[in-house]
Amino acid sequence: MSNSILFEHFKLENTTLQNRAVMAPMTRSRADQNHVPTPIMAEYYEQRAGAGLIITEGTAPSPNGAGYPRIPGIYNQEQVEAWKPVTQGVHAKGGKIFIQLMHTGRVSHPLNLPNGAEVLAPSAIAPASTEMYTDQEGSKSIPAPREMTKGDITHAIEEYVQAAKYAIEAGFDGVELHGANGYLIEQFINPESNRRTDEYGGAIEGRSKFALEVAAKTANAIGPEKVGIRLSPGGAFNDINPFDGQDETFEFIATKLGELNLAYIHLVDHSAMGTPEVPRELKEKIRDAFGRTIIISGGYNRDTAEKDLNDGLGHLVAFGRPFISNPDLVDRMKKGTELKDPDFDTFYTPGEKGYTDYPTLDNE
Ligand SMILES: Cc1cc2nc3c(=O)[nH]c(=O)nc-3n(C[C@H](O)[C@H](O)[C@H](O)COP(=O)(O)O)c2cc1C
Repeated sequence: MSNSILFEHFKLENTTLQNRAVMAPMTRSRADQNHVPTPIMAEYYEQRAGAGLIITEGTAPSPNGAGYPRIPGIYNQEQVEAWKPVTQGVHAKGGKIFIQLMHTGRVSHPLNLPNGAEVLAPSAIAPASTEMYTDQEGSKSIPAPREMTKGDITHAIEEYVQAAKYAIEAGFDGVELHGANGYLIEQFINPESNRRTDEYGGAIEGRSKFALEVAAKTANAIGPEKVGIRLSPGGAFNDINPFDGQDETFEFIATKLGELNLAYIHLVDHSAMGTPEVPRELKEKIRDAFGRTIIISGGYNRDTAEKDLNDGLGHLVAFGRPFISNPDLVDRMKKGTELKDPDFDTFYTPGEKGYTDYPTLDNE
């Protein structure tokens, strides 16, 4: 049963992954109120170290990017120290771990941000149909962000670079830039959220400039083999929608990222969660334009993962929700054991319930 491409080793640049099953990045809101990782996070990730590669939950590279309550950050030394037990725990179990750098941009609320931080975006356009949860006042509509000046853009790029350096100091094997799901990088890419008239807006090159500068400078700081990026072409989330010219935009970006020798592009397809189907042809265009490692994700199980790996759509497959409720997902898939369903009510609640208390086959 276990003789399968999914369980083969894979060489991701200089790092050998023990299999091709990636744990998808998932916000679990178990950091503290100051966006500092907590000890239960180390336990959670260590339990899941059987993945070929873990990609952490979205982590703010800047106080301005910490738009959700209790998401972790990696913008100060206290956070770096608090991440170290996470990377040590995963490495001790033979796993590899990248940290996802997620600047929330306009998908945010001032109540969730640290003192002195601000809701910033390429243009002063609120994500009008998205609400944001706050611990203090529950769900709130989102106020319009402040339009970033050129100085803000330069500063934000520097924050990504610093966060990537901190990530290496904390022991991560690399970073994944969150360019998907309507957060800051995608707010620049999408013409609905980016109405700028300077060189960071307008045509394809302008709207791609922020993403490519973040990628180039981060790669320059820690090595391109340690930098991946997540993209959601054709996605609809956080008031971002498919747009005319998206194929050309994402092909352009993928070509340029290939020239930078980034470790991988991680493609999101959330159609299993009710968003529009992402045309397979678009995924193939991006794969071919990039010419390097592709992670595919969204709604996969063992059978569909093997099929798409064998068909060459991607090289690695990320699993999200199955990893929440099956810490030993890879063992279960190998043995063909039935998977447990996750409890949605505890996705973002503080504490161990629904987080570190899912059983493994050994202690069921
Ligand atoms: C609780 C939860 C939190 C998530 N948080 C993130 C996140 O921080 N960053 C991200 O890129 N995707 C996030 N996602 C999307 C997942 O990475 C993944 O793409 C999605 O769950 C679809 O894959 P699946 O069908 O295997 O679950 C999240 C999904 C869930 C269920």
